[in-house]
Amino acid sequence: MTNPICKVADIIYVRFELTEFEAQKKYLNHFGMMLAHEDENSIFFRGTGTSPYIYVANKGKENKYIGSAYKANDYSDLEALSKEFNVDIAEITEPGGGHKVTIIDPDGIEVEVCYGMKEAEPVAVVSKVLNTGQSKQRENELQRFGKAADEWQVHGDKWIYELTSKVKRLGHTAINCKDPQASVDWYSSVLGFLVSNNCIGPDGNSMGAFMRCDMGDKPVDHHTMNNMGLPGGQEVLTYGHAGYEVTDSVDDLMAGHYHMKTVDEYYHEWGIGRHLLGSQMYDYWRDPHGFTHEHWTDGDLINASVEPENSNFRDLAMAQYGPEVPSTFGVTMPVDQIDKARSENPTIATMIKEMEIAAKQEN
Ligand SMILES: [Fe+2]
Repeated sequence: MTNPICKVADIIYVRFELTEFEAQKKYLNHFGMMLAHEDENSIFFRGTGTSPYIYVANKGKENKYIGSAYKANDYSDLEALSKEFNVDIAEITEPGGGHKVTIIDPDGIEVEVCYGMKEAEPVAVVSKVLNTGQSKQRENELQRFGKAADEWQVHGDKWIYELTSKVKRLGHTAINCKDPQASVDWYSSVLGFLVSNNCIGPDGNSMGAFMRCDMGDKPVDHHTMNNMGLPGGQEVLTYGHAGYEVTDSVDDLMAGHYHMKTVDEYYHEWGIGRHLLGSQMYDYWRDPHGFTHEHWTDGDLINASVEPENSNFRDLAMAQYGPEVPSTFGVTMPVDQIDKARSENPTIATMIKEMEIAAKQEN
């Protein structure tokens, strides 16, 4: 393969256009992010990590995903992209500053490549020490989360578990592509992404890939992107989900689950489970506009030396453990349409079961 135009280091934030901010601000607070900055036209939310923001929404006429931003390793990467795509390097006027180049991917997604953003001061969170059957690391110290049982408070006539997840950073996005191979090729040749898993569909053709950043010897997240062609192709909106790493481990994810569940205002999309590709524990929640956001923890880290693996539909959809993946997973739609869509379509697990039974009968 020829050298890519540049190699990005990581994903920084996702950008949306929204018609309103108040319901989204409320959701993101419940989801475990913190408002970093707001003005009349924009909201910026951060995690506990060093990115000045990980989610931004600009006021507009529609509710839609605009794109994602990636971190360049060097200013010369912006110069290379600027030259190749004939676009200017712009000064970033949003929090954190720096410079960026904005280009468009094959599915019309805005890709911002940023350099020189000022890092935010990370928010300190004390990690919990876990005792397991095999290893006892915590002695004479009681395991307590937040205010312990006092995290349960009565609001109106219901109990709400008040402790939220503490989102640290944005880790990846999943996008639905018109032509997944064209998308995979574009991200490889423009931003230097490497394929971690090539997903082979039931017909033997590639359905897309899980891709990671090329940082040489330095281990990075198993996937920073998941570029998939979904059944339904052109009809499906591009945005699948954004996945945010929580600060601490499993308990941080579980606290967020019970917070969202007891608040009882948001649609639970899928989880809790443990993915196969990337290995994360996951929990997916829809925001008020139907966009899916994931809490995850304990993902795989691999460096550039690891070769791509071929994975089948089962590897993709069937988690190592967890509930069946719903038919609506990965499909952006208004929240009030999800139950109907689920009732009208078989789950992906049911489709896989039928395909496997049919394959056995053919043999
Ligand atoms: Fe994910």
